[in-house]
Amino acid sequence: MIERVKEFPSLIIIRHPLVQHKLTILRDQRTQTKHFKELVDEIATLMAYEATSELSIEEREVDTPLEKTRGWHISGKKLTLVPILRAGLGMVEGILRLVPSARVGHIGLYRDHGTLQPVDYYFKVPGETAERDFFILDPMLATGGSAVAAVSALKKAGAERIRFLCLVAAPEGVRRLSEAHPDVQIYAAALDRQLNSSGYILPGLGDAGDRLFGTR
Ligand code: PRP
Ligand code: URA
Repeated sequence: MIERVKEFPSLIIIRHPLVQHKLTILRDQRTQTKHFKELVDEIATLMAYEATSELSIEEREVDTPLEKTRGWHISGKKLTLVPILRAGLGMVEGILRLVPSARVGHIGLYRDHGTLQPVDYYFKVPGETAERDFFILDPMLATGGSAVAAVSALKKAGAERIRFLCLVAAPEGVRRLSEAHPDVQIYAAALDRQLNSSGYILPGLGDAGDRLFGTR
């Protein structure tokens, strides 16, 4: 169950009841770290089901215990997950449960609290970038600075097919990412109202990294 928003053609909102139910618990300030981590993991799995729906498949022969038949397997471009550190790490295992053969790269970025500009500190992705389908993972798309920087870094490394998966998006971030990279499909569990003056999403869920790792 998905929703499209006229203003943002690159955005797909995943309206599945389970996703929305879990997201509401995630937003609750009383939800503690252990539960928060479990929910991010579960929502990532549910979102991945939708985000993988357009991966190309090809026919292949299989021997059942009784006879040969034909089936399907995901073809060609290998799926590669790229969490943006730190908070994106919370989404990795939930997707690997569905696609255990996926490779995992990492992009290290943090948002400077004063300027809100992304500061990069790490980049490592598997080779043969042009052959892969990349899923960038980050629970929060706020100003969009981190997302734009992550996509640009992946493209610079040769990536051609990139999707961006987040839990909560702000209109400002969706606009910025889709203007900078109109080819990148964005999947979100919610499109929230706006950013506050400190660049936090309203209503949002607070600081995703801190809530995931219990650092505040
Ligand atoms: C958060 C979040 C995104 C970024 C979004 O990370 O996980 O990466 O902010 O903000 P933006 O869209 O305005 O760039 P943060 O910088 O807090 O780092 P952390 O994951 O290490 O806590
Ligand atoms: N990063 C977060 O973790 N939360 C926000 O609301 C915005 C950026």
